[in-house]
Amino acid sequence: MYSEKVMNHFLHPKNVGEIENADGIGTVGNPVCGDVMTFYIKVDNNRIVDVKFKTFGCAAAIAVSSMVSEMVKGKTLDEALKITNKTVAEELGGLPPQKLHCSNLGADALHRAIENYWERQKA
Ligand code: FES
Repeated sequence: MYSEKVMNHFLHPKNVGEIENADGIGTVGNPVCGDVMTFYIKVDNNRIVDVKFKTFGCAAAIAVSSMVSEMVKGKTLDEALKITNKTVAEELGGLPPQKLHCSNLGADALHRAIENYWERQKA
């Protein structure tokens, strides 16, 4: 079943919530199950200084969101873009095969929030 790390992040997720006046927001839905995840980032000097998420999803999706939020805090945008769904699942000590699709939301929502930040810079 789930690794201890997955259970910890699911039972005690970090950085849950919303950032008012976020610099970038990214939402993705999982077509397989209909779950939805939104990431909010605050950026300063090209670095992610704060991150929060809201996830309406399964235990794996919540654990993935929490892990992604921990992995990106303090990283530059370029470093954050290198985080992939695979590295998140690895960092969580693996996910059961039938739950691997849940990890797809994490990095995608984060990357979308970064893209949203760049779009706002251009505007
Ligand atoms: Fe929906 Fe896991 S079952 S994200």
